[in-house]
Amino acid sequence: MNRTLMILITSFLGSAVLVVMSPAVFSSDKFGANHLKADTLAGAQTKVIKHTADTDEMKLILYGKDLIANTSGYLGPKGSVMHISNGMNCQNCHLDAGTRPMGNNYWAVYSTYPKYRARSASKETIVKRISDCFERSLNGKKPDSSSREMKAMVAYMKWIGKDVPKGVVPKGAGISKLAYLDRAAAPNTGSVLYKEKCAVCHGAKGQGIINTDGRSFIYPPLWGNQSYNDGAGLYRISTFAGFVKDNMPFGASHENPILTDEQAWDLAAFVNAQPRPHKDQVNDWKNVSEKPIDFPFGPYADTFPEKQHKYGPFKPIVSARTVK
Ligand code: HEC
Ligand code: HEC
Repeated sequence: MNRTLMILITSFLGSAVLVVMSPAVFSSDKFGANHLKADTLAGAQTKVIKHTADTDEMKLILYGKDLIANTSGYLGPKGSVMHISNGMNCQNCHLDAGTRPMGNNYWAVYSTYPKYRARSASKETIVKRISDCFERSLNGKKPDSSSREMKAMVAYMKWIGKDVPKGVVPKGAGISKLAYLDRAAAPNTGSVLYKEKCAVCHGAKGQGIINTDGRSFIYPPLWGNQSYNDGAGLYRISTFAGFVKDNMPFGASHENPILTDEQAWDLAAFVNAQPRPHKDQVNDWKNVSEKPIDFPFGPYADTFPEKQHKYGPFKPIVSARTVK
């Protein structure tokens, strides 16, 4: 798969080479060699850094990268270290171990955390944010904050973001925001598209395809028991649509997408209409007015029904919120 071209770690004779798409979008010369044109996604440059994995710090960073890429092998149902997650890998959603432009990368993690997040209505550390993805996206339990595993993932994110100045979100970080459609997203249209464009890898029932060793997925599930739960970020239709538009079918990219915006919204509606594990979210969104427009569970600060918050149309909700 072409992701191996963008990030690969080879270890031999105790040394490792990390090739990483790294964020470098700084317009100021004070960042010297990292200076790049600010307005291209190619703000991501390929950095080749040779490291000997013999320092403790480098070992920790490389272990962190491995945990992101092969989470299930270590922490999944048949994991070698602990059994705390559902069989998915962080990399299933944070492509190329969280370094891919518009592939839900980690470029802005070290520069922006700790930060206030409305879901918990509190200032969250990187540890808290990683724990969230364990409890929601991996439908599991969080590793202890003092564990080597948590320390390794934090060290890896710090390493990825080490050239990004505090507070800066590099262009190409995270997930795209697509424009809202004028209509509600349509699960029925999405169902037809799913069969055509997704089922070959993710399965007719969204169940994915498991590796012969039974320890991890070759193609991860999109719904059902082994998928992320309904408290995960991807369960918001705008997040799913933005991620899929830029990254799926596998091989698509922000600059060379395969789906149109409409197709991405309809696919998101179809997938979000399927069953998945439930998470008790009574403690989320303490300030109801901070709840995102496309969060599919009430209560809301407006009078639009849950269904409209789940599938749209979103424009009337946006204008009702701005015209108070
Ligand atoms: C099912 C998909 C999925 C999986 C698997 C997943 N994540 Fe995430 N993660 C997301 C989404 C989506 C977001 C962004 C949510 C948003 O924008 O609201 C996110 C956000 C994050 C962030 C914050 C990024 C930022 O810039 O604010 C971190 C850190 C993170 N995830 C770590 C992890 C780790 C570590 C794992 C594995 C243990 C993991 N994630 C597994 C979907 C996933
Ligand atoms: C050629 C195979 C292939 C096709 C076709 C494909 N995907 Fe994927 N998809 C993948 C792989 C592989 C991953 C995990 C990437 C990784 O681990 O590096 C993935 C990950 C995902 C994820 C995040 C992880 C998860 O399981 O939730 C979503 C969402 C997704 N795909 C949606 C889609 C949709 C929607 C389509 C149809 C438009 C699609 N994919 C078509 C291979 C494919």
